[in-house]
Amino acid sequence: MTKYIVEGGRPLFGEIQISGAKNAAVAIIPAALMVSGPCRIENMPQISDVTILLNILQDLGARVRYVNSHTVEIDSSALRNGRVPYEAARRCRGSYYMLGALLGRFGLADVALPGGCDFGGARPIDQHLKGFRALGAQVDTQSGFVMAEAAGGRVKGANIFFDKVSVGATINIMLAAAMADGMSVIENAAKEPHVVDVANFLNSMGANIMGAGTDVIKVRGVDCLRGGSYTIIPDQIEAGTYMAAVAACGGEVKLCNIIPKHMDCISAKMAEMGVEIHEVDDSLMVSRIGPLMKANIKTMPYPGFPTDMQPQVAVALCLARGTSIIMDSVWNTRFRYTDQFVRMGAQIQVDGSLAIIEGVERLTGAQLEACDLRAGAAMLIAALAAHGISEITNVQYIERGYEDVIGKIRGVGGRIRAVEVPEEDLMISNVS
Ligand code: EPU
Repeated sequence: MTKYIVEGGRPLFGEIQISGAKNAAVAIIPAALMVSGPCRIENMPQISDVTILLNILQDLGARVRYVNSHTVEIDSSALRNGRVPYEAARRCRGSYYMLGALLGRFGLADVALPGGCDFGGARPIDQHLKGFRALGAQVDTQSGFVMAEAAGGRVKGANIFFDKVSVGATINIMLAAAMADGMSVIENAAKEPHVVDVANFLNSMGANIMGAGTDVIKVRGVDCLRGGSYTIIPDQIEAGTYMAAVAACGGEVKLCNIIPKHMDCISAKMAEMGVEIHEVDDSLMVSRIGPLMKANIKTMPYPGFPTDMQPQVAVALCLARGTSIIMDSVWNTRFRYTDQFVRMGAQIQVDGSLAIIEGVERLTGAQLEACDLRAGAAMLIAALAAHGISEITNVQYIERGYEDVIGKIRGVGGRIRAVEVPEEDLMISNVS
């Protein structure tokens, strides 16, 4: 097992190249199984969620070849339909996109219910299932598997109105509808940049999807998707995470290869907190010299402040002057990480979906245990900002979604190293 050792308390200076978006990649890989021909995908992030999904595609019979470290060619021409087992699905939430993709291509999908980050509350998929049913599929959930089957082997275009804005349900229904018989209209759709990216990927393979990025998406089903080439957008949340690191640690860092417009919902809040942000072409110069100011944050679907940035920005607010309030209206139990910050000297009280943060002068290094992907990233930021040495275990959560996190942090002067420890040693240090 790997753990990170971080010597904190230094400002960050330099440049960071932002990788391809995880939440776009984990949907585009399943989408590629619908394509009958070679498709080349560039800017693929090197993260473990991508490896898991590519393995699932290979197990189903797709040919997968890395052209270089960030370019993958996938040929699903000879892919067979098959069950996606629990062992594979539990390791990555994006595996639920296999449902929409297999249902769209074959009219039949049999996929284990997904795993992914545990925020301490339910992560329902009722809106996905409602959408598949609206498209004419019979859907059963049994023994941990979802089985969806369309009469006549093909789903039928339909109107779907989601009760709740859901990234996953929007993408899953868009996938199935892309090869449906007829036109589908998805209302109350999610508008996240990765929803648009998946629609653009499918369109570049021959689909006919209009309106992605608004709350009404129209999908005219096509008979087949052919091959093509596509470049994944940069990761908004990875860029936001490094922005939060500069906010917490101070310093000046250029975030390269981003789409500045996608960052507006995060940049606006950071500016309120006293972080300076300047846009230069496809990069942002982020600096924090003076003190951090308190801010109130409510997470919301895009273009609101993203829930996936909530733990990272909380670290900066722990070091800000005054009292800040965070309300997570998307995952209202996503505050399990706060206990660990309290052990570093932070003053946080959680009450339901609210966290009330009283800013302190400094955090001090501690033993930390990542409990999910973004909480893990937040612990990394807290460790970089804290005085003294921290050790972070369970870093496999961080590596699910952040490419070369050690290299990128070191590149801007952060003192961090990964060490291998026998699993028994970790267990002993966890109980002591
Ligand atoms: N919801 C329902 N029913 C559904 C689906 C969702 O009630 O059928 C609710 C959820 O309980 C939640 C809200 O709707 O309260 C939003 O959930 P959404 O479906 O949008 O989340 P998701 O698709 O499961 C994706 C990202 C998450 C991110 C959320 C919100 C992927 C693989 N995951 O999850 O990313 O937090 O959207 O933006 O794209 C992460 O990257 O760390 C991460 C957790």
